[in-house]
Amino acid sequence: MNDEIFDKYREAGLLAAKILRDGAKEIRIGASYLDIIESIESRVTEDGAALAFPLNLSLNEDAAHDTASPGDTRILTKGDVAKLDLGVQVDGYIADTATTVDLGVNSLLVDASKQALEAAIGIIRPGVTAGDLGMAVQTTIENRGYRPIANLTGHGLDKYVLHRSPTIPNIGIKGGMVLEEGMVFAIEPFATTGSGHVMEKTRKEIYSQISQKPVRIPAGRAILEQIRDRHGLPFSRRWLKERKMDLALPALIRSQVLHVYPVLSDIPGSLVSQAEHTIIITADGCIVTTR
Ligand code: CO
Repeated sequence: MNDEIFDKYREAGLLAAKILRDGAKEIRIGASYLDIIESIESRVTEDGAALAFPLNLSLNEDAAHDTASPGDTRILTKGDVAKLDLGVQVDGYIADTATTVDLGVNSLLVDASKQALEAAIGIIRPGVTAGDLGMAVQTTIENRGYRPIANLTGHGLDKYVLHRSPTIPNIGIKGGMVLEEGMVFAIEPFATTGSGHVMEKTRKEIYSQISQKPVRIPAGRAILEQIRDRHGLPFSRRWLKERKMDLALPALIRSQVLHVYPVLSDIPGSLVSQAEHTIIITADGCIVTTR
């Protein structure tokens, strides 16, 4: 990694950290779900950067991939456990960071994912395996009486690429990739009172383009035109201006032009917390870009 690329990762990280910190303060009982998301998303562009993905605000048993639908009427209520997951990119170099706000009595659940993240960061250096990080995450969460979510993972990052190797598990698997200087990845422990496994809900708000092949239907072409500047990074249904999008989006998925990210949830009635930072491995440890 050269200095120019490092500086862009750091710029994206500092901005994401600040916006996430400020944004978390907007998560209050009685606040509008849609207003919070639009307000935080707009700060990213006002500061001259771009979103790496739509702002995720996932409540309670929903672990990830929820965001506002157009005209979303939800209001935050007492007892909500709200995960705010923000991605900022500068010229394609991504900072991915998340925090959890507890609107009830679940601060220990929130602490569990936060402490698991710090435990993993604390042991990172070249030569450590992805499985070692997963073990640190799992042990920290289980010692606090919760379960880690086994089928959600941290992920490597690259220019305009949100998910690549290495995969950073949230459980202590044997081995996994050996980590090397210069690797960039997000670590994102999830702690849950539920089963420790997420399943896909029918709710779908987030998509990304995975193929450049030609599309025949006009509404589909109009959507692809509107998301061209995403460079394949995820976008939200809420960002689109297309009258027939609810017909066009499923058609684009069927023809494998778009990928969809359904909301991922643990069992009904459970509560999930998340913490996430993006790091770059150095010769003797790591730099957290999103602090
Ligand atoms: Co992430």
